[in-house]
Amino acid sequence: MRIRIGSEAAIGRLAGELIVRQLREKPDSVLGLATGSTALVVYREWVRLYREGRLRFAKARSFNLDEYVGLPSHHPQSYRAYMREHLFRHVDLPEDSAMIPDGTAADPEAECRRYEAAIEACGGIDWQLLGIGRNGHIGFNEPGPCLQANTHVAELAEETRKANARFFSSPNEVPHRAITVGMGAILKARRIVLVAIGEEKAAAVRDALAGPVTTWVPASFLQLHRDVTVLLDDGAASMLPDRLREQAARIGERGDAA
Ligand code: F6R
Repeated sequence: MRIRIGSEAAIGRLAGELIVRQLREKPDSVLGLATGSTALVVYREWVRLYREGRLRFAKARSFNLDEYVGLPSHHPQSYRAYMREHLFRHVDLPEDSAMIPDGTAADPEAECRRYEAAIEACGGIDWQLLGIGRNGHIGFNEPGPCLQANTHVAELAEETRKANARFFSSPNEVPHRAITVGMGAILKARRIVLVAIGEEKAAAVRDALAGPVTTWVPASFLQLHRDVTVLLDDGAASMLPDRLREQAARIGERGDAA
């Protein structure tokens, strides 16, 4: 696991370099994408690089991690709307290559099976972007006595609904369920980049990177993966134990510490 620490701007730049490298090496990469506040820092940089002509998505395909159950794709808080707003409409990733679970499917279980099969049919994820919840979730794989390997319908933890209420006009509007890619497809991704920003993520980051591997901290399973890069700002890194802090590198001004 590589840990890189820097400012929000430096994290953005490094996340930009990492995707440029990935798509240069394999233009038809299958990308696993996340939503939320953290991913905005990443997508802003990708859009900038695209405008500069350094990044092309034309041959790539993407699978988003999750979608709320019950929100139609035109709902402003749906993850389809988020992705359109912050990435898809700005870059050349063909919209029909950009998969997001259908939160309005009449049979959500069947939608989960379809989504899982579509990821498999593409050969799995090459490059997975992850954020982390304050409770250690990745995707919407929430802490609990067990975790699921396949794409499934998840009950959102109350903490997650509360955290995401900031995007809705009232907390009651936050859906209770989401379709999420499971731990299997995430851990089978060939490369993973986890980004965490802000002190409110510090305990989750510490538990994920330095604690025991446990279903109560889903992100802790990343310790078992061979190619994970973790990008943190000082707030998110503030509770890391010394042994991890010593092995972490500072991201340079040009975002080139990976
Ligand atoms: C979103 C997702 C979630 C978020 C996590 C962090 O697609 O899968 O796991 O990455 O909840 O969200 P933010 O970045 O909003 O704190």
